[in-house]
Amino acid sequence: MPTVMVTGASRGIGYEFARQYAADGWDVIATCRNPEGSEYLYEIARKYDGRITVERLDVLDFGSIEALAEKLKDQPIDILINNAGIMGPRRDELALQSFGTMDYEIWTRILRTNIFGPMRVAECFVGNVEASEKKMIANVSSRIGSNSVKAPVFAYGTSKAGLNKVTTLMAEVLRERGISVVALCPGHVKTHLGGVDAKIEPLESINGMRKIMEEFTIERTGEYINYEGNVLPF
Ligand SMILES: NC(=O)c1ccc[n+]([C@@H]2O[C@H](COP(=O)([O-])OP(=O)(O)OC[C@H]3O[C@@H](n4cnc5c(N)ncnc54)[C@H](OP(=O)(O)O)[C@@H]3O)[C@@H](O)[C@H]2O)c1
Repeated sequence: MPTVMVTGASRGIGYEFARQYAADGWDVIATCRNPEGSEYLYEIARKYDGRITVERLDVLDFGSIEALAEKLKDQPIDILINNAGIMGPRRDELALQSFGTMDYEIWTRILRTNIFGPMRVAECFVGNVEASEKKMIANVSSRIGSNSVKAPVFAYGTSKAGLNKVTTLMAEVLRERGISVVALCPGHVKTHLGGVDAKIEPLESINGMRKIMEEFTIERTGEYINYEGNVLPF
């Protein structure tokens, strides 16, 4: 069976990717920064009988990324999903990522998590992806990273715009190795990050993104697509 690796699989969108792929019979490498505290992940790992392997990976800790890459160096990975991400302050604390009141330490942490993290994960696992059948890297972005969206959430917005640019450049660099790269927008999903007022359940969002990845080919590498299959403007 094919193998998928997901970062940030402890909850939310990453957890649902792990659950759905395992339910479909895939081998899943579910990474999280705190395996000891990820009891839900272990629950589905038990349910799907060895199909889910839980591994420690903190995208802010390059040592943990490199250590896992070394451990898994002979393991082909069909789809690498860079999902782990943070939004930073929101609602009543939104001022901390607004013009005039920006907290630059928070901004730095968001950029490190949402841009440098996926980039380093891709650098470390590109050989595993190249050794697989599907050869695909998916970066979980957001609509807010598009220049067409004007919401003044400076830190999170620039982090996803940056991830989109990384996707474009990575797609060009990896095209000749047969690896396709896509930026995915999950929609507004009911998770800790998305909040309770979000429009859709993880089930629907992940179903949509999995379908896109299943049908995706190298000819489309570098695209930015939402969970409904619509190509978004950068
Ligand atoms: N939900 C939405 O409406 C929405 C919309 C657009 C885009 N997205 C994107 O979708 C992705 C997943 O978000 P979500 O909605 O599932 O949010 P979530 O419920 O808050 O989950 C975020 C996940 O990222 C992990 N994470 C955070 N920092 C990490 C780090 N340094 N290293 C490794 N893992 C880390 C968290 O792990 P811990 O459990 O250890 O904290 C958690 O598993 C993010 O990239 C987000 O920007 C979400």
